Amino acid sequence: MHLSWLESDASTPSAAPITTADLTAAGVLYERLALEDYQGSLERLKAERGYVTQDIVELHPEMPNLQVVCDKFKDEHLHRDDEVRLVLAGEGIFDIRATDGRWMRVQVEAGDLIVVPADLYHRFFLTERQQIRCVRLFKDAAGWVPEYRVA
Ligand SMILES: [Fe+2]
Repeated sequence: MHLSWLESDASTPSAAPITTADLTAAGVLYERLALEDYQGSLERLKAERGYVTQDIVELHPEMPNLQVVCDKFKDEHLHRDDEVRLVLAGEGIFDIRATDGRWMRVQVEAGDLIVVPADLYHRFFLTERQQIRCVRLFKDAAGWVPEYRVA
């Protein structure tokens, strides 16, 4: 995982230090999991936090609708369910609103587990590799619908 604040232009990484404590303050859970044996950790998370559904999502450059899918998540939005992702391969970038309104940029890679809590504004991008494969967990699959922020 790589962490950085974004400058007020919302795109330039800042040199200011950011830590997992900043993520915790915003309610974001972050852990490293061993990918050889992650299911036990996911079962613990399900029991602790009430997730009931598990699936795998993959985005890659050969997908004809890749841009359409990515466009759904590049603008600031929230969900009424937690956004739980364990990265199995590839990379992605979550920008997440800190409690003071600044953007925290979290670049995730294989072995990173991140939980963006319900009702917290964020956005998501692929890196230049344009590939990511993740396990997702849901409390209710129907609840995972983006609600966009009105500027
Ligand atoms: Fe999202």
